[in-house]
Amino acid sequence: MVHLEFYDGSGQTANDELSEYMRQKEEILIRAQAGEEQYRDSLGWLAVDEWAGEERIAEIETFAKRVREDGDILVIIGIGGSNQAARAVIEALPGHGKVKVLYAGNNISSAYINHILEQLDGKSVYINIIAKNFETMEPGIGFRILRQYLKKRYGVGYSSRVFATGTRGSELQELCVTHGYTFLDFPEDIGGRYSALCNVGLFPAAVAGIDIRAMVSGARDMEKNLRTTAGEKNDAFRYAAIRNVLYQKGFRMEMLASFEPRYQYFNGWWTQLFAESEGKDGKGLYPVAVKYSEDLHSIGQFVQEGSPVLFETFLDIEKPDAEVILEADDVDDGFDYLNGTDLRAVNSAAFSATFQAHSERLPCVRLRIEELNEYSFGQLFYFFEFACYLSGSMLGVNPFNQPGVENYKGYMFKALGKHK
Ligand code: PA5
Repeated sequence: MVHLEFYDGSGQTANDELSEYMRQKEEILIRAQAGEEQYRDSLGWLAVDEWAGEERIAEIETFAKRVREDGDILVIIGIGGSNQAARAVIEALPGHGKVKVLYAGNNISSAYINHILEQLDGKSVYINIIAKNFETMEPGIGFRILRQYLKKRYGVGYSSRVFATGTRGSELQELCVTHGYTFLDFPEDIGGRYSALCNVGLFPAAVAGIDIRAMVSGARDMEKNLRTTAGEKNDAFRYAAIRNVLYQKGFRMEMLASFEPRYQYFNGWWTQLFAESEGKDGKGLYPVAVKYSEDLHSIGQFVQEGSPVLFETFLDIEKPDAEVILEADDVDDGFDYLNGTDLRAVNSAAFSATFQAHSERLPCVRLRIEELNEYSFGQLFYFFEFACYLSGSMLGVNPFNQPGVENYKGYMFKALGKHK
């Protein structure tokens, strides 16, 4: 499980105050645990088995096997919620098998796409276009370029190399019917940033050799815990309450921190989840993420002595996996005090020291995770999705829409001559 601890050495938040806030907001937890009618169209992720039950997992595994047996490269074409969860897991875990995953359709840089294309020659290539609303320009462009590449290389048979994850009845599904691409459901009732545990996140992860059954099992266990635990004992509820109490006190940023650089893309997923879900109606905490210990040498200064606008949430892995012992050396480099020390102990000492120093100045949340593996990724995805639902509800915003991202598009489409 994920265990939450909260420290505020600055003395700004008393535990009594948090308890009182949670008592006042308990109705929000009860409603979320049941799944509210008003968000029925967005809660497809709430019951993990709805979109990641045995039948769907078996289908994903069958499709993934086809790519794993024949492919060298899978290019995921998607942006935002359509690619972040898969990337978070794939880039953090070793995977099993030979398929390398590349990412396209997530920017408009010509140098970037050329670099992707350069890596494909001589390899057996498959693509997975993922788009809920098949109007998003970046994946549209990426899909066209990669489709044309496949056509040129493989002729008419190229279509068996295209997997398309889209909603039923969408234009993308029509393309699948017309051109013979394999279609996977993008659940209508799940928004991109909540889509880790359905075809969207699971199919590419399975292709990369990630144990998706373990991921789903972690999410399922977390669901059971969070949907049945009442009040203060519910860690997602506590986390959401801490965020909101601190927001009311004037904090405007939450910084996610860990000493494990493999969380790099998970950080992106988490940032998107909270930014897009809560940053609306002139409200919301600005989510940022740091990679320690590297960022201690830059952002660490701001945290310790800069404007008091942020609080910090640490992801702390209890059992780091790889052992590396620092052997004694005949070069007198000044680091002999580390002789014979396991790097894991050094990292852990750096974590404890940082946590102590930071929590003396600002509120700090510590989320303890047993190990970094498929199971804990499933837990974390569900934990934060559920917490985000609660937190947005406490804040008084709809955590499932994103009206603000439409504004720039009007100007861009006008400039590019798009009329419909
Ligand atoms: O969370 C969301 O809903 C968004 O971030 C979308 O995932 C993102 O905009 C991509 O949308 P689409 O899959 O429709 O291209």
